[in-house]
Amino acid sequence: ASTLNQLARTQGKYFGSATDNPELSDSAYTAILGGGEFGSTTPGNSMKWDATEPQQNQFSYARGDAVVDFAEAHDMMVRAHTLVWHNQLPSWLTSGNWSATQLTSILQNHIANVAGHYAGKVYSWDVVNEPFNEDGTYRSDLWYNTLGSGYIATALRAARAADPNAKLYINDYNTEGSGAKSDAMYNLVKSLKAQGVPIDGVGFQAHLAVQYGFPPGMQANLQRFADLGVDVAITELDVRMELPADSAKVATQATYYANVTKACIAVARCVGITIWDYTDKYSWVPGTFNGQGSALPWDENLNKKPSVYDAIATAL
Ligand code: XIL
Repeated sequence: ASTLNQLARTQGKYFGSATDNPELSDSAYTAILGGGEFGSTTPGNSMKWDATEPQQNQFSYARGDAVVDFAEAHDMMVRAHTLVWHNQLPSWLTSGNWSATQLTSILQNHIANVAGHYAGKVYSWDVVNEPFNEDGTYRSDLWYNTLGSGYIATALRAARAADPNAKLYINDYNTEGSGAKSDAMYNLVKSLKAQGVPIDGVGFQAHLAVQYGFPPGMQANLQRFADLGVDVAITELDVRMELPADSAKVATQATYYANVTKACIAVARCVGITIWDYTDKYSWVPGTFNGQGSALPWDENLNKKPSVYDAIATAL
């Protein structure tokens, strides 16, 4: 039988899974991660700011390198994640009372170092992660509050300079379907393109939940971004549910996985799909969403959930 990535490759796309450093010592887990199902990986935490620059101008690459080395050894691409975000920032950065000039040079220095270190080793960077609120206004965070929305162009330009070959993405959640947040992302990308700011792709996280319904108009939404002249990617797919799971919830979940897959397949510039780890054993969901889980195509014992896996495979 073909693997998910082999099926995706027949469509010119990849199928990937995020990972994280603690689980790289679980040999049953790594056997599947590197066993051909996945053509790409994303480090779930180890390229974030708190991991890569824990003290100002002191860079730490060991954990990110371990993910890159695993990917290289198993013929997987790396979607690097992430250079500029509001979360998982080191305290030296959040506790500083920076002027705009100081924060700009901190941002540029971080990107020059981190994207420079990984230049030639990663396929893409999520340069900016989660810039928007649900209503489409900019998120009130360190970056926006100090630098205004121009931090996004600054970050993209710095990333291009540091790694001219990486595809540069902006990534967000709840932008998969139509709506105010998606419109805001669309207008941002359109304006960046018009200004000649380097932007190659838009990432749609796709942290879905059975109980919230499927995002409306996903395929058309991906297509309108593609029509701006950028790649699109599904970057962090999972479909959680309120526990306990039952057959109706799992059936809905399988449909959601299939629908996301079909949407990407139908859009020529959708380059691939990444699930946010492949097994419930290492899913971020139970630790983040109280009472929810069972979000991934492999269960806690690393067994495929046949109905979910087959729904994806059939859609590829
Ligand atoms: C999550 C990781 O999976 C967790 O291990 C960590 O504790 C918090 O961050 N959107 C993103 C990812 O862009 O970086 C987040 O990853 C999940 C939500």
